[in-house]
Amino acid sequence: MLAELSPALIAEVKLAAKLLKTKQRICLLTGAGISAESGIPTFRDKQTGLWENYTAEELATPEAFARDPKLSWSWYQWRRQSVADKKPNPAHHALAQWQYDSQTSAQQLTLITQNVDDLHEQSGSTVTHLHGNLWRNRCNQCGVPHQNHARDSYDNDNTVQFEDTLITCSHCDGYIRPDIVWFGEALPMKEWQIAEDAANNCEVFISIGTSSIVYPAAGLAQLAKQNGAHVIEINPNPTRNTIVDITLAEKAGIILPLLVQEMTQL
Ligand code: OAD
Repeated sequence: MLAELSPALIAEVKLAAKLLKTKQRICLLTGAGISAESGIPTFRDKQTGLWENYTAEELATPEAFARDPKLSWSWYQWRRQSVADKKPNPAHHALAQWQYDSQTSAQQLTLITQNVDDLHEQSGSTVTHLHGNLWRNRCNQCGVPHQNHARDSYDNDNTVQFEDTLITCSHCDGYIRPDIVWFGEALPMKEWQIAEDAANNCEVFISIGTSSIVYPAAGLAQLAKQNGAHVIEINPNPTRNTIVDITLAEKAGIILPLLVQEMTQL
């Protein structure tokens, strides 16, 4: 694998590993790019098939749900169907390994994700979800959590069908919606606090597979930088982020296993 990477990139990975080895408080923020190698399209990828004429913004807002709840719900049921059989890739596994190793080292890792899939959890990581969870539902009106979705009974043959019929709340009769943060909605307070604290207090902030354009999550790297942290970015198409100290311009599934391996060898 090393042979396929340019000497300059390998040198950057080694530099990042050296830096990380000397630091204790690390904050990691992942975005859709980390799940791309598992077969889940990113947000900036054009939608395909049934939904190609819609943008995520047209389906994932409180206004869209109020206007046409069935349309939004159908889209999420379709997304559930398409994500249900997806598995963590080497990037998720490397982070889980690093987190596991940190239990016996002096490092303190805080893993934050903007993703609503559960691939970090599937790989064994502990993660804070800033934008909600694709597999949870709640009432759009009274907010009461709805029973877990069919994820638990998913049988790995992709035979469970995620019906697009709307469900109503047994308490107030409001429509059930996915427990996901939509455009224009506030982030969950507890999760945001964890992210803000970790960004404020970290010595190194690592941004992985995110276009860094959706705030407030995109502001976490700036917060870390203001407080003296080094910023590392892992993205095959690096963002125009001027606060980045080390850019690792390759897929997360290639860089992260290498980075973790480098650290263990130091
Ligand atoms: P985006 O789709 O905006 O960006 C994905 C990023 O991943 C891009 O910068 C890609 O270059 C990069 N990428 C692609 N493949 C990669 C790979 N194999 N390894 C590493 N990086 C790769 O996704 P997010 O930044 O996560 O919000 O989007 C942020 C938020 O915008 C989402 O959480 C969602 C969306 O609207 C909500 O749902 C509230």
